[in-house]
Amino acid sequence: MSRQVSDEAPDWWRDAVLYHVYVRSFADSDGDGVGDLPGLTGRLDHLSWLGVNAIWLSPTSVSPDADFGYDVSDYRRVQPSLGGDVALDALIATAHERGIRVLLDLVPNHTSVEHSWFVEARAGRGAPRRDWYVWADGRGAAPPNNWLSDFRERGLPRSAWTFDPPSGQWYLSSFLPEQVDLNWRNPAVRDEFFDILASWFARGADGVRVDVAHKLVVDDRLRDNPSLHPDDDPVSRQRGQRQLMNAERPELHDILRSWRRLADSLDPPRLLLGETYVGAVERLAPFYGAGDELQLALNIPFLRTPLTAAAMRTTVDATLAALPPRAWPLWCGSSHDDGHLASRWCGGDQALARCALLLLLTLRGTPLLYYGDEIGMTDVEVPANRRRDRGGRRDPARTPMQWSAQPGGGFTRPGVTPWLPLGDCTRNSVAGQRADPHSTLCLCHDLLAARADRDELRRGEMTWLASPEGVLAWRRGTAHAIAVNLTDGLVEVSGISGRVVVATDGGRAGESLPGRTLLAPRSGLLADLG
Ligand code: NOJ
Repeated sequence: MSRQVSDEAPDWWRDAVLYHVYVRSFADSDGDGVGDLPGLTGRLDHLSWLGVNAIWLSPTSVSPDADFGYDVSDYRRVQPSLGGDVALDALIATAHERGIRVLLDLVPNHTSVEHSWFVEARAGRGAPRRDWYVWADGRGAAPPNNWLSDFRERGLPRSAWTFDPPSGQWYLSSFLPEQVDLNWRNPAVRDEFFDILASWFARGADGVRVDVAHKLVVDDRLRDNPSLHPDDDPVSRQRGQRQLMNAERPELHDILRSWRRLADSLDPPRLLLGETYVGAVERLAPFYGAGDELQLALNIPFLRTPLTAAAMRTTVDATLAALPPRAWPLWCGSSHDDGHLASRWCGGDQALARCALLLLLTLRGTPLLYYGDEIGMTDVEVPANRRRDRGGRRDPARTPMQWSAQPGGGFTRPGVTPWLPLGDCTRNSVAGQRADPHSTLCLCHDLLAARADRDELRRGEMTWLASPEGVLAWRRGTAHAIAVNLTDGLVEVSGISGRVVVATDGGRAGESLPGRTLLAPRSGLLADLG
């Protein structure tokens, strides 16, 4: 396999800017209104220009799409409607030629009900693969225990168990009833996934994002979860109970270690980025192990921190303090489950979105952008008759990429109805912003270029600087400083002398800073000191 990506650093991911592509929503090459892999390959120009180092693709395996790829029916083949196997191989090869690495989304916690393993398992209590899944007898007519699905049903909590009338047993389904939890205590399941992972790496994947990494193993006695405590974290509160028995089980670390040994045994080593949807930064640390589990773990408490100086500083400090030595943080503000940062953090305000991006791209750690973040794309209201998501109200976070103001938004052909409604591309699009050097898009481009040019912006220590209330200011290494004014007033920041490299109000680039500098409301800058 030809690789043009630079392989000199085995821990390239510490230097990288990652970019999550929700494939169905990025670019539609065949005019069916759904994004696909050839569409993405055709848009790699944009990602090269932007300067991202790796893309993570939402799931690409064969799936009946009850949860848009997060319900896999064949891990070894690529979804035909996304372009199939040939299209994935072509994407990986083309991305590598451009120096962009590719991470695939591994969904190990559950399969689709349509997977042949489950079809076999469901044949009866004595079926050969019965023990690949988690089955249990009910408590009378009630489910085996009190575990709740992460997905509600019509807004109400739903049991994590689904009744299977022919066998009279219940199967564990922590998300939709069509998503069946695998039994990770079964060595045959472990062996099969080890082999799947090895085959993906052999195919050229530079790493994987591990879906629901925190839930892989459940309590062997299927004990009830305790009920909520008033000071439980927001994720537990959202789930309606403390997930002590069906999440964050100690046994899952063995699995992560075995995958890490595989990832590290390859040349170049591959990346494991985990979806660790836990409600407190202290509980992220175990997923890094002793440097022998995940290299990167999704930080949900950060993503859920409000965009104020005090709250952000508290979460960043808590994260840096909680992670084990040498562990490396991952920062993101948007996702296909939670929404775009321009809406979540900024209420659609573009000046604030630029501040948020400046923060994300200059903290010590690896930033993860979600498609559209680079243009400050906001969530789009989706009318009831166009909703597609059965797992929650996540459609607004997944609307098509806004490429241009032409009909179809540059996402699909003119006249085709996209699978989810397009936002207002006349007001916000990649093409519109490329033409404006002071746009959010150009800011992101310039920040990525500054990171690429300056080692300390990637690896340098991070030290807070004194700053007025509502303002965050910090140094990276010895030669760079960042200041972000998140307030609605003009503020003066002292202690930064040097030259502005990038500013959220683009006119300031190149300006020399004498030691005291004024920051307009909702604005920020990156400076070289000296
Ligand atoms: C987490 C994924 O991000 C989400 O989109 C999916 O619905 C669940 N895992 C279930 O796979």
